[in-house]
Amino acid sequence: MIYDKKHIELFEGSFGIKESDFASENEYASAVCERTVGFSRAVIDGLPNVKTEIDEMYELFALLKELKSDERWGLFVKWIRETDRFDFSMHPVHGFPHTARCGFYQFAMGIKLGVDEKTLRLMVLAGLYHDIGRTDDEFDVVHGRAAALMLPSLFPELSKDELSILQAAVHTHCFPEPYDESMWYEYIDNRLTDECRFVAESLRAADSLDYMRLGISGYDDKYLHSDTARKMILCAFEANLLFAKFPEIYKKVFLQR
Ligand SMILES: [Fe+2]
Ligand SMILES: [Fe+2]
Repeated sequence: MIYDKKHIELFEGSFGIKESDFASENEYASAVCERTVGFSRAVIDGLPNVKTEIDEMYELFALLKELKSDERWGLFVKWIRETDRFDFSMHPVHGFPHTARCGFYQFAMGIKLGVDEKTLRLMVLAGLYHDIGRTDDEFDVVHGRAAALMLPSLFPELSKDELSILQAAVHTHCFPEPYDESMWYEYIDNRLTDECRFVAESLRAADSLDYMRLGISGYDDKYLHSDTARKMILCAFEANLLFAKFPEIYKKVFLQR
């Protein structure tokens, strides 16, 4: 079991509702979703290694509503649908649910930070494709480099500069912190350092947000590096619980306008 069973049981047991009381899984899912916010906030506030003093945390459903009203949501849907050409199914821990959430966190952070469309795409692609080089779902310390080498054939339409940033971020995402930025120089020149640093740090934050899929009790926010990423903690927790409980429904959430 990948997810934290204790929290899923707590989550289900805390609302006094049963799936059998609803006509369809969709109705049950909606009812559960409406009840997640207070529960999720209490769990996050109780984590010893998470700083929750920031004034605003994004709730998944409020954030989804906001993002779906943004004209760029259509781009996110397009980019995530294009992942169909790649088979993520062999990696339960690092497959589609994980990379879809990372792509979503990247999209949300990009919109909140007001990045341009070019950078937004690089952020989302980094989230969606950062783990495609894995040959082992558990121990694989070179999968960032393997993924980076696969990117040119997947994205021939990217400019050389865009591809360089994406490759550098993906290559180094699995290095322990603090990591050495000189590893980027296989791909980039000095001119691209700031943009590369932004995409690479954002990818590390998105990937770290989704560590919660491995269990919430020991979750530590030390790799998030920015308040924007910290504001996503609540949303990431909700996304993990709901994906675990309703995998098919939440796959669709990200595939619809
Ligand atoms: Fe990875
Ligand atoms: Fe990952």
